[in-house]
Amino acid sequence: MKISPIKLIDENGRRIDGRLPHEIRKVKIESGVLKNADGSAYIELGNNKIIVAVYGPREVYPKHQALADRALLRCRYSMAPFSVEERKTPSPTRREIELSKVIREALEPAIFLEEYPRTAIDVFIEVLEADGGTRTASITAASVALADAGIPMRDLVTAIAIGKVEGLLVVDLNGLEDQYGEGDMPIAMMPQLGYVTLFQADGRFTAEELKEAFKLANDAIKKIYEEQKQALKRKYLKVAEIGEI
Ligand code: CDP
Repeated sequence: MKISPIKLIDENGRRIDGRLPHEIRKVKIESGVLKNADGSAYIELGNNKIIVAVYGPREVYPKHQALADRALLRCRYSMAPFSVEERKTPSPTRREIELSKVIREALEPAIFLEEYPRTAIDVFIEVLEADGGTRTASITAASVALADAGIPMRDLVTAIAIGKVEGLLVVDLNGLEDQYGEGDMPIAMMPQLGYVTLFQADGRFTAEELKEAFKLANDAIKKIYEEQKQALKRKYLKVAEIGEI
C-alpha cells in the first residue's frame, strides 16, 4: 500500500479540498458550445475543464473502415499540453490511446449504432485542464454532446470515480487523491436504464466496499444526470427564445 506524504482526511473528516467523503465536486455542464460541430458540450467538474465535439453520422474515411451493419464510433481523448502541471507532449500518449478506447466502450452501448450502417460518428474530447477523473467527466460530457448532435440514444451515460483514501471510500477523487489514494474505481452508467457501461478498479477493495461503492456511485450519478438533462434543456429553451441554433 502506498503511504501518502500528505494528510488526505483531516480530523473533522474533511478531504483536502474541504469536501465530505460522499460529496462530488462542483459540476457545470453546457451543451451546444461549438458552432462548427454537429453537437458539443463543455464540462467543469471541480478544476477539470473539458470540451467535446461530435460529428456525424457521416461518411466514413478511409472507406474500408465502414461497417455493414452499424455506425463506426470513433473517440479521441486528447490532453492539451498545458492541461497538467508538467507539460504534456502534444502527440498522443499510450494513456490517451487507452482512454480513447475506454471512453468509446463506455458510450457504445447507449447509441443506436445499428440505425446508421456504413457511417461514422466521431467524438473529439479535449481536456483543457485536468485534476483527476478526466475519463469519467469526458464520458459525461461526450454523452451530452452526442445527444446535442441529435444522435438517437437509449439513455445518456453518466460517470464518476469512487476511490479509497486513508481506508475510507470517497466519491469523485481529485488529482491529489487520485495520486496518493489507495484505490480508484471509475464507473459509468446509463442511469435511467440502470446499466453499467464502464467499470474499472485500481487498488484493493473488499466485497463490502464494492457494494458500497456502487451505491455511492449511483447517488452521485443521479445528481450529475440531472445536470446533463438541464444542460440539454437550456440549449433548446435558448433556441426557442432567439429562433436559431
Ligand atoms: O483523469 P483520470 O483520473 O480519469 O485518469 P488517470 O490516468 O488516473 O489520471 C489522473 C490524473 O493525473 C489526471 O486527471 C491528471 O490530473 C493527472 N495527470 C497528469 O498530471 N499528467 C499526465 N500526463 C496525466 C495525468
